[in-house]
Amino acid sequence: MSQQENLPFDEEYYQPPYKAVYRESIENAEKFWRKMSEELEWFYPYEKVLDETNAPFYRWFSGGRINISYNALDRNLKSRGNKIAIYWENEKGENIGLTYSQLYNEVNRFAKVLQDLGIKKGDRAVIYLPLMPELPISMLALARLGAIHSIVFSGFSVQALIDRINDAKAKMVITTTHTMRRNKRVELKGIVDQAVEQTPSVENVLVIKRNEEPVMKKKDVLYQDLAKRTGYKKVEVEETSSTDPLFILYTSGTTGKPKGIFHLHGGYGIWTYLTTKWVFDLRDNDVFFNTADIGWITGHSYIVYGPLQAGATVLMYEGVPDYPNPDRWWELVEKYNVTVFYTSPTAIRSLMKYGEDWIKNHDLSTLRILGSVGEPINPEAWRWYYKNIGNSSLPIVDTWWQTETGGIMISATPGLGNYMLKPSANGLPLPGVDADVFTEEGIPTNPREKGYIVIKRPWPGMLAGVWNDPDRYIKTYWSKFQGVYYPGDYAVKDEDGFFFILGRADEVLKIAGHRIGTREIEDILISHPAVAESAVIGIPDPVRGETAVAAVVLKQGYTPSSQLRKELEDYVKKTLGSIVIFGGIYFVSKLPKTRSGKIMRRLVRSVISGQTLGDVSTLEDETSVDELKKVIEEFS
Ligand code: WT7
Repeated sequence: MSQQENLPFDEEYYQPPYKAVYRESIENAEKFWRKMSEELEWFYPYEKVLDETNAPFYRWFSGGRINISYNALDRNLKSRGNKIAIYWENEKGENIGLTYSQLYNEVNRFAKVLQDLGIKKGDRAVIYLPLMPELPISMLALARLGAIHSIVFSGFSVQALIDRINDAKAKMVITTTHTMRRNKRVELKGIVDQAVEQTPSVENVLVIKRNEEPVMKKKDVLYQDLAKRTGYKKVEVEETSSTDPLFILYTSGTTGKPKGIFHLHGGYGIWTYLTTKWVFDLRDNDVFFNTADIGWITGHSYIVYGPLQAGATVLMYEGVPDYPNPDRWWELVEKYNVTVFYTSPTAIRSLMKYGEDWIKNHDLSTLRILGSVGEPINPEAWRWYYKNIGNSSLPIVDTWWQTETGGIMISATPGLGNYMLKPSANGLPLPGVDADVFTEEGIPTNPREKGYIVIKRPWPGMLAGVWNDPDRYIKTYWSKFQGVYYPGDYAVKDEDGFFFILGRADEVLKIAGHRIGTREIEDILISHPAVAESAVIGIPDPVRGETAVAAVVLKQGYTPSSQLRKELEDYVKKTLGSIVIFGGIYFVSKLPKTRSGKIMRRLVRSVISGQTLGDVSTLEDETSVDELKKVIEEFS
């Protein structure tokens, strides 16, 4: 097949690549989106491209009817029924391949089971599964019925699960017994069992059996039993409207309570589809390996919804990169002839330390595009990736985006002929993305002057809101600057319009690319019987990007010890999840506070990272800072 036949758009948009497409998307937005939306199948045409009547609750393609699961499966059946949609492999090398028509059958069977259990349009179901095939299958099945999924990353633990189930008032939890990590069993169902004791909305726990017999509790139903009875039958797809919710995904903010970011069938569907083509340039013979977990937005958008709507083949790997050996990923790239590879800076840094010999034995010549996501990539990691994985010749798309943006916002766009790369830059905004960098006062910065990245007009993939909390949506994203979306990242823009994202501007940490709020960790620490108060901050870490450091004040009757330090660490991991990684816990008798009693995290950070303190005029008690300094000195 010639390249021309494979191009996703007609000539009007293709001949002049990136620049012209971008210009059209801004100057002729309505016409542009009408054109783009034709690529997907609609049950019923929309009335308005963008409905602004209830801004900032913008609604895209309102009045139309479209279903993302239909566009990923039914639409691809005709032309790609026998093409592999998903390859799956685990640590041990067990693997399966599902064609589009097999995936369609599995999704329909799953949907029928869900339907028989009473799941219908608008119901919420929490999915707590590792990267097994039933994860995308259950997502697509729920979406087919118009039900709303909320995936909780399997690295989260009991408390995180309880909070998310209750906020979403989920009717069902879908889980399995366990996953394997470095040949060790990681328990999942036991965590669900504990959680559902405190989640009254849950009617059923749908348990997917793996290679062991699950211990069934009273709300549990076994998927395999029901599926056997059901068999493979077609389930009518729900003709959802463009503005019906597709999923809720909880993410950390500046308070202790995670935000339920929700996305809709229409706008999110189109955005993930288009950005997959623009950034990863996926064509029919590509095999896309995204190493993310589907429990995060990266997996939602670029393992499941984007690539499958684009009719691509994806590889899902249930395991870690360095087990059984540090060449596990390169083995997979070679075995499956992977062409596009997408990973995180943390993963790259963790593999760098094993040296290049692990790569040399593998034929990586099928690769044509590399990607990075989740945190800024440091120059050493970039160079290593470029040289050793990219053979000093492949483009690296450094994609900036967020759970909230639904899909990639700033990156190079090989699919639009834009391979322009600059060291450390993320690149130029994608079509439709009107990005800028503002000063604190809300005016554009000068070139190379640090400020806050902002998005000045709505885009189809944007979040629809914060579940159950419209005020928080307005306050968090639309209030810092009048009428523009505020992502909460620092950035600079250079004279050529390239964006460089510098990191979070709020109290949110990025530990191994995973987003976690300092307040969430503090709340868990305080719930431990020994802890009176705590202040958590992030410090730079050479591999993970950042780790959490806590200054902790103990309750009377408790004395600092390394044993207690270990106990607190374990407690946070057990309660919130293993994604929290500590760079230190320091015991102090008091925290630096303002006269009005607010904890001054800024000072805790300055002391811990050995920086100058800055303005201390509001500090109530200077001895608190001196004590913290002393504790840290003694420790190191
Ligand atoms: C935050 C969003 C986007 C999917 C994974 C994370 C940071 C993300 C980059 C990048 C620099 C990046 C930002 C952003 N971030 N990608 N390429 N360069 N920073 O999604 O958990 O919602 O986190 O991740 O700080 O705000 P998320």
